[in-house]
Amino acid sequence: MDLTILLGELERVLARLDDAGIRHLSIAPADPAAAADRAATTGSATPTDDAPLPQGNGSELDAAPAPGELASRPASRGQRPPRFPLPAAVTQASLAPQWKGAGLALAELSTLEALQFNFRDCMACKLGATRNRLVFGTGCARPPLMFIGEGPGAEEDQQGLPFVGRAGALLAGLIAALGLTRDDVYITNVVKCRPPGNRTPEPDEIASCRPILLRQVELLDPRLIVTLGNVPLKALNPLAAGITKERGRTFAFGRWTVLPTFHPSYLLRNAAAIPTCWLDFRRAYREAYPAV
Ligand code: URA
Repeated sequence: MDLTILLGELERVLARLDDAGIRHLSIAPADPAAAADRAATTGSATPTDDAPLPQGNGSELDAAPAPGELASRPASRGQRPPRFPLPAAVTQASLAPQWKGAGLALAELSTLEALQFNFRDCMACKLGATRNRLVFGTGCARPPLMFIGEGPGAEEDQQGLPFVGRAGALLAGLIAALGLTRDDVYITNVVKCRPPGNRTPEPDEIASCRPILLRQVELLDPRLIVTLGNVPLKALNPLAAGITKERGRTFAFGRWTVLPTFHPSYLLRNAAAIPTCWLDFRRAYREAYPAV
């Protein structure tokens, strides 16, 4: 595995953040002040526990395919799954007839579109009062890989899309290094509304959003879930130790397998952790796209 290539690629992504890099991701340029604000507080600059960063094992790197090979591998689910670009604003008119009504029981919400519509005006917790836009999630409707972050930041709150700031560009860079795009995977957060000042979501806010996240997982039925940082790790596995200890250790969540890794915001401040995180990404790819 050529780590230099990955680091070079990530450096290029980061260097283009303010203009072409962001356009490459098909998202509007980030507000630098908001991005800096976000990077300072999300995914915490250091993991919650103080243990040294775990180091990758070289043999794992050797066994993994190179980024170039990954792009040409077919997905094990046959055809590339359909894209799932939700309408920018889901309206009654855009819904199939059976969803034309609000307040449906979760089990009745049998599509992502219906789920998103049902919660479009959610005020179940205090974040509803301060958000600009509810950030539901984006990507492919039957994704081999599902990424779960912490919660929207300022840029996400403005655009209504997850991971569109600096951390998002790094996440997209890692996904691209696997030969995938944001449209090949699904990206969402534990909480769907921005915590004011980008603070860590509080337990009642996480609990309020939990039914949405669980239904997303059920409907998307990913081959592998990758949690980014401590908040989604603890949301899916409350007994887990901190991310420093747990990263790279898979666990079961219902019938799904979860692989915890570092939050991209943490990587932005601790580039030394990128190689370890990259090991997790490659492993995630191998498990989500087994060779056919
Ligand atoms: N952007 C998100 O959507 N989620 C995070 O956890 C961080 C940035």
